[in-house]
Amino acid sequence: MKKIFVIALLGLISSVQLSAKDVKLTSPDGSLTVTVGVDGGKAWYQVKRGGETVIGRSALGLVLKDGDLKDNFKMGKTTRSSLDESWGQPWGEESMVRNHYNEMQVTLQEKGGMKRRLGVTFRAFDDGVAFRYEFPRQPGLQDFVIMDEATQFALPTDAPTWSIPALTAYYEGIYTREPLSKKGKMSGPIALEVNDSLYMAIMDANLTDYSTMNFAPSGTTLTVDLVPWQNGDKVRVGDTRVSPWRAIIIGHRAADILLSRMALNLNEPSKIYDTDWVKPTKYVGIWWALQKQRWTWSQGDRHGATTQNTKRYIDFAARHGLGGVLVEGWNYGWDTDWTKHGDGFSFTRAYPDYDLEGLCRYAAERGVRIIAHNETGGATQNYENQLEEAFTLYESLGINTVKTGYVNSHFYNGELQHSQWGIQHFRKVIETAARHHLMIVNHEGAMPSGIQRTWPNLIATESMRGQEYNAFDRQGGNPPYHECILPFTRGLGGPMDFTPGIMEYRNDAVPGTRPQNTLAHQLAEYVVIYSPGHMAADEIENYEHQPAFKFIEDVPTNWQCTLVPHAAMGQYVTYVRQERGRDNWYVGSVTDAQARDLELALDFLDKDHRYTAIIYEDGPDADYRTNPYPLTIRRLDVDRNTVLHLHLAPGGGAAIQILCQNS
Ligand code: NOJ
Ligand code: CA
Repeated sequence: MKKIFVIALLGLISSVQLSAKDVKLTSPDGSLTVTVGVDGGKAWYQVKRGGETVIGRSALGLVLKDGDLKDNFKMGKTTRSSLDESWGQPWGEESMVRNHYNEMQVTLQEKGGMKRRLGVTFRAFDDGVAFRYEFPRQPGLQDFVIMDEATQFALPTDAPTWSIPALTAYYEGIYTREPLSKKGKMSGPIALEVNDSLYMAIMDANLTDYSTMNFAPSGTTLTVDLVPWQNGDKVRVGDTRVSPWRAIIIGHRAADILLSRMALNLNEPSKIYDTDWVKPTKYVGIWWALQKQRWTWSQGDRHGATTQNTKRYIDFAARHGLGGVLVEGWNYGWDTDWTKHGDGFSFTRAYPDYDLEGLCRYAAERGVRIIAHNETGGATQNYENQLEEAFTLYESLGINTVKTGYVNSHFYNGELQHSQWGIQHFRKVIETAARHHLMIVNHEGAMPSGIQRTWPNLIATESMRGQEYNAFDRQGGNPPYHECILPFTRGLGGPMDFTPGIMEYRNDAVPGTRPQNTLAHQLAEYVVIYSPGHMAADEIENYEHQPAFKFIEDVPTNWQCTLVPHAAMGQYVTYVRQERGRDNWYVGSVTDAQARDLELALDFLDKDHRYTAIIYEDGPDADYRTNPYPLTIRRLDVDRNTVLHLHLAPGGGAAIQILCQNS
């Protein structure tokens, strides 16, 4: 009896001691609490919202090549700070972003051996929690190799989760929804529907000089799975002494996830001090005809990038107020199987039927800029060797944007695109471009993690299954729900070069493959999918005499603020955005294969202003399966008391322009 009593008492005392050492951090509004502690030498954190567990006790720590940092910790010192600032961005979904958090820096102290210290910094925002590791230089922790993170996310339920499989080539996969425990390894960002009032997304923020974070599920617990170098190293830590942030976005409504600016806030302020030249614009391009195999990138009868074709595209852009013309296949290197021989690409020598200098002049005279295309075929060394010379040339010709591409499963040296080496390469290109006043649109790039705050010349990335699959996919194209899930996943990290605006659904190259959505849905993509420089992707002939094109001409790509009145992951989403610096509003609403009727209250409008709405909506019998074309365009006087009824056809959408009549 006495013995049992003593043991029970000891248990009590030890748990009291343990919890006395735990440290807590709350969000500015007090709703979220992070607790961090050490138990039996192992460090853990947990996240609660009120009494509700958001992330259960989850491991922290690192597996190193030389002596793990995960099993032998005690709590070291903790320091705290707070920030509440607003910062402006040259382009974006908001003109000002509020960055408001409480911070706690925890030192985990090794109990024995070299007594090394590992820092973990937590930030609690009102809309989520983030943490990152910090590696102070010290004996036993100079340059070192991370073989794995012990980091876990213990989800409270077997939540329906949206993701693509880890290591999907260029992230060009279809997001699917399964219970967490049924998933294989996944790439981030992942989006979770935990319950009716708990939605989450987990992702890398500020992925710099590190490997991309994938997730390995076991039951409902995720363990970080870093993308390796070829020899199995995950991260070689040198000058960069912090990991990316592990960001957990938390909301009551699915829409809250879309409105969170945590990913941006977790990145450094802009390193480009004078951003006057960073001016993304809408563009057309010698592109869709290539995807549909009417034209070729290589030389020959059907060569697309000829002087004559490019002039027609420049004239069209100038006539319709679009600032850019993308030209693919203008340079030497396309005439062999370039995915295997990327070393053959020249980024300065134009094909004989393409007048590089003359066309840049021709464009400039019409207020248009050429967007140079740099497909590397993954031959990054060849690209890096020419980078300085090519970018110097482009700058001298008045080219202000480069679209890069990396079609190859591995880089020239065998490393993976998602690896630390890949991340380093992409950053080198962005930084070199910034020195030459060039904006970058990166295809087959890294998974965006908010670094456009630091490098606003990275105006868009692909890293998703873009519209191009609606030309060449052998399975018929992207599923109708695709644009209803992209904003909740891929879109959280940064602008998407999705290339919307297809108006001709016929496809002679791959019959039957086409956008699996309606024309109104194609227009709505300009508002739903965020990019500061959207493409009007179709061949220009398909825009002539097409009333729907007026919306593409008019829609801005830079916003004052953004609202999300309707959102259900993978089902439908409505965005409302105000034009930057003007009292005009734009609405984009898209649905999956199901028709929907949505009410949209225009209570965001100014009470003293009058407005005209121009509504582009699915017409009678529109249905993505049978008839994607019907589109009705109507005008309506509206004010802040108006409630619009949106009827979206199966695979349909609505795009609305609301123009202020007082300004
Ligand atoms: C894939 C890119 O996503 C596409 O836009 C480009 O046309 C081809 N690669 C060729 O570079
Ligand atoms: Ca691609």
